[in-house]
Amino acid sequence: MKVIRVQNQVEGGQVAFNLLKEAMADGAKTLGLATGSTPLAFYKEVVASDLDFTDMTSINLDEYVGLAKEHDQSYDYFMRDNLFNAKPFKENFLPNGLASDLDAEVKAYDGVIAEHPIDFQILGIGRNGHIGFNEPGTSFEMTTHVVDLQESTIEANSRFFASREDVPKQAISMGIASIMKSKTIILMAFGKEKAHAIKEMITGPVTEDLPASVLQKHDNVIVIVDQEAASELESL
Ligand code: GLP
Repeated sequence: MKVIRVQNQVEGGQVAFNLLKEAMADGAKTLGLATGSTPLAFYKEVVASDLDFTDMTSINLDEYVGLAKEHDQSYDYFMRDNLFNAKPFKENFLPNGLASDLDAEVKAYDGVIAEHPIDFQILGIGRNGHIGFNEPGTSFEMTTHVVDLQESTIEANSRFFASREDVPKQAISMGIASIMKSKTIILMAFGKEKAHAIKEMITGPVTEDLPASVLQKHDNVIVIVDQEAASELESL
């Protein structure tokens, strides 16, 4: 893993944006995208740029089960609000959290990923080391699946909802096996609450107890961290 230390999230977004520009110049056609607060500065850079995405495909990592696309906390809404409304793509894929048959939905999503191999994957990381919504204990072999969210994740995400009870208890997430097939992976982390997960991801054992540690086995991962998120790392 290559680690790039930055001063803050804004600089991190610029670094990630420059990597995206290079990847697109090299022919990247499919972007794997993430939600959460971490990629926001990156999306701002993208929106402010003159990059054209009308020939590009995006595939998002995950979506809550039970939220309509119109719900302002759905990941579909987040992506339109922060990127897609300003930068139209050829096609945007997100799991459908309202699918009546979730088994069929996860299979269909695996089909989408198989059809559009991901060239450039953006990742954040949960405080417990989750990527997408792959919580600790998730098999590295998993493809798209329905996840029961951990209490700590529900707690962390409750800040976006009116009350804790409103946070969905399940999500559909791309699996670790699918994430690992991406050609390039950019993982960003900002803030002290990510420091432990970052340390374990980079220097700890590769274990399903810390899903992001699997990235040690991928040969093209770039980690962008601010000083706080890097604070538990020895100087690398
Ligand atoms: C959420 C998302 C992840 C995200 C993570 C961190 O639960 N499913 O994709 O990386 O948690 O969120 P944030 O960037 O807001 O810290």
